[in-house]
Amino acid sequence: MNKPLQGIRIIDFTHVQAGPACTQMLAWFGADVIKVERPGSGDVTRSQLRDIPDVDALYFTMLNSNKKSLTLDTKTQAGKEVLEKLIKVSDVMVENFGPGALDRMGFSWERIQELNPKMILASVKGFSDGHHYEDLKVYENVAQCAGGAASTTGWWDGPPTVSSAALGDSNTGMHLAIGILTAYIGRQQTGKGQKVAVSMQDAVLNLCRVKMRDQLRLDRLGYLEEYPQYPHGTFSDVVPRGGNAGGGGQPGWVLKCKGWETDPNAYIYFTVQGHAWEPICDAIGKPEWKTDPNYTTAKARQPHIMDIFGTIEEWLKDKTKYEAVDILRKFDIPCAPVLSMKELLNDESLRKSGSIVEVPHKTRGSYFTVGSPIKFSDLKPEVTASPLLGENTDEVLSSLGYNGDQIKALHSDKVV
Ligand code: COA
Repeated sequence: MNKPLQGIRIIDFTHVQAGPACTQMLAWFGADVIKVERPGSGDVTRSQLRDIPDVDALYFTMLNSNKKSLTLDTKTQAGKEVLEKLIKVSDVMVENFGPGALDRMGFSWERIQELNPKMILASVKGFSDGHHYEDLKVYENVAQCAGGAASTTGWWDGPPTVSSAALGDSNTGMHLAIGILTAYIGRQQTGKGQKVAVSMQDAVLNLCRVKMRDQLRLDRLGYLEEYPQYPHGTFSDVVPRGGNAGGGGQPGWVLKCKGWETDPNAYIYFTVQGHAWEPICDAIGKPEWKTDPNYTTAKARQPHIMDIFGTIEEWLKDKTKYEAVDILRKFDIPCAPVLSMKELLNDESLRKSGSIVEVPHKTRGSYFTVGSPIKFSDLKPEVTASPLLGENTDEVLSSLGYNGDQIKALHSDKVV
C-alpha cells in the first residue's frame, strides 16, 4: 500500500498529548517515528491513569501507536551524542517540552541547524514566542481558558466551562502536523529546514474564530440575535455563554427524548435550518406553522424559538433518540442522537470505517483506539501497537552505527 510519508524520519521528542497526537498521525501515514524517552520511566502517560498494573496505560497506547521507542538520557554526554547523530539523519524533530527545556539540554534551534540545516524543528508551547505568558507551562484546560473556549462555553448563569474535546492538546498537534508537512514541502523547494511552532492558545483561538466574529458583531450591534439572550435577556460587552445554541445562522438546541429522566444521553441535537422549515412542520405534525406569519421566517421565529423547541420536545416525548432521528432524516433535517462513549465504542459503522480499531499489544492483550479520522482513496492507515519502553533502542542505535558493546553501555537505565 502506498504510504505517502514513508522515508520521512521523525524524532518524536514529545510527551503527554499535544505532541504525541501529532507524531502518531504522521506515523499512521507512513513516517518513521522514533520516540525518544527518558530511560526507566518514559513518557509520563505510560504510567498515568493505569487500568492494568504495570502495563502501559491507555493514555499512552492511544497516542503513540505506529511508533518506535528509543530510551536515551539526553542530559548525559553519551545521550547527547546519540541525539546529535539522530538529528543528522532525520528530517523532523517534534517537541513539546516546557519553555526553554530544549535549549537547556543544549539543542537550541541554532545548534540543530548546525547539525542538520535541512532539519524541521516543530514545537508546541502553551503561548507563542514573545507572548507575555511565554514562560508558562500549559495543559489542556489552561489553553482552553487562555484561547477563548472556556469564556464562551457553558451556561450564561454558570462559570466558564471547558470542553471535553482536546482543543488545547490534540487540536494543537493537528495544527502542528499541517505546519510540519508545509515546511517539508517548503524544504523540497528551498533545500532548507525551518522552525515550526504552534501555541496551544493560538490553536484554541483558531477554533474559536466564530466567537471572535461574535465579539466584533456585538461591538457593532450590542446584541447577537442567535443567542438565547436575544431578544428577552441582556447582553454585556463580551460574548456571552450560549448554552447549546447553534453557533451559526441556524438555531439549534439539545432536545430531550424518551427516557431522558434516567438516561443522561437520551437527547438529540435539532437544527432549524431556515430553508427546511416546511419539512420540520410536516415532520413534527405542525402543518399550520407553514403559513402562520409568526413562524414562516427566521426573524419571526427567533423571539419564541425556545417555545418552538419546547413543542418539538413534546413531539419527542414518546420517541427514543434513534427513532426520532430515523423520522427526521426522512425530512432532511440536520440532527443526530447525543452519543455516549460506550455507544461510539460499539458503533458498527465506526468499526467498519476504521475510525475505531482494535490493536493487538504485547503486554495488554489488545486495546481499542480511535483510528485515523482522515480517509484516503489510496491509503488505509493501519494502526499498530504503541511500543514498549525502549523496545527499539537496539535497532535505532545500530542503524546509527553503534556496535554491540556501545549499545550495551547506552542501552541500560544506568546510563547517567
Ligand atoms: N532525558 C533526559 N531528560 C529529559 C528527557 C530525556 N530523554 N526528556 C525530557 N527530559 C527533561 C527535559 O530536559 C526537562 O528538563 P529541565 O526542565 O531540567 O530542563 C524535563 O525533562 C521536562 O520538562 P517539562 O517538559 O517542562 O516537563 P513538566 O512535566 O514539568 O511539564 C508540561 C509538562 C506539559 C506542562 C510542559 O512540558 C509544557 O508546558 N509543554 C509545552 C506545552 C504542552 O505541550 N502542553 C501540553 C501537553 S499535552
